[in-house]
Amino acid sequence: MKILVINGPNLDLLGKRQPEVYGRLTLKEINEKMVALAKELQCEIEFFQSNHEGEIVDTIGKAKGKFDCLIINPAAYTHTSVAVRDAIVATGIPTIEVHLSNIYAREEFRRKSLIAPVAVGQICGFGPDGYLMALRAAVGMKG
Ligand code: DQA
Repeated sequence: MKILVINGPNLDLLGKRQPEVYGRLTLKEINEKMVALAKELQCEIEFFQSNHEGEIVDTIGKAKGKFDCLIINPAAYTHTSVAVRDAIVATGIPTIEVHLSNIYAREEFRRKSLIAPVAVGQICGFGPDGYLMALRAAVGMKG
């Protein structure tokens, strides 16, 4: 099983960015934890991060036929991007949405996800562990 993990804008700043909201781990450290778990679960994993909506759309489009599952934290694009949502639908790959923070316990504008209706499910509010939960969920979906 091959899984692609996509992180959206400003998640390259994890560790430094509002640690009281997003925690102190860097994206590299989170990805390392995912690599270790992927090894244990015997699946292949790749990572992509971009601050650019079009690059994320392109990456989702190119994933067709190459990956069995997408794990995505679209970050701010969660709340705005019809393009990312449409790309997920077009690619047809089962997608799990992840957020470090509980988006429903924050500002009003974060409470709506354009991605959630086209995702298999959403995990939010568990910090970096959410990515590991998503990986287990992805592998669990296989059979
Ligand atoms: C986030 C939540 C979004 O509202 C925010 O724009 C982010 C991070 C999260 O992981 O909690 O950049 O997706």
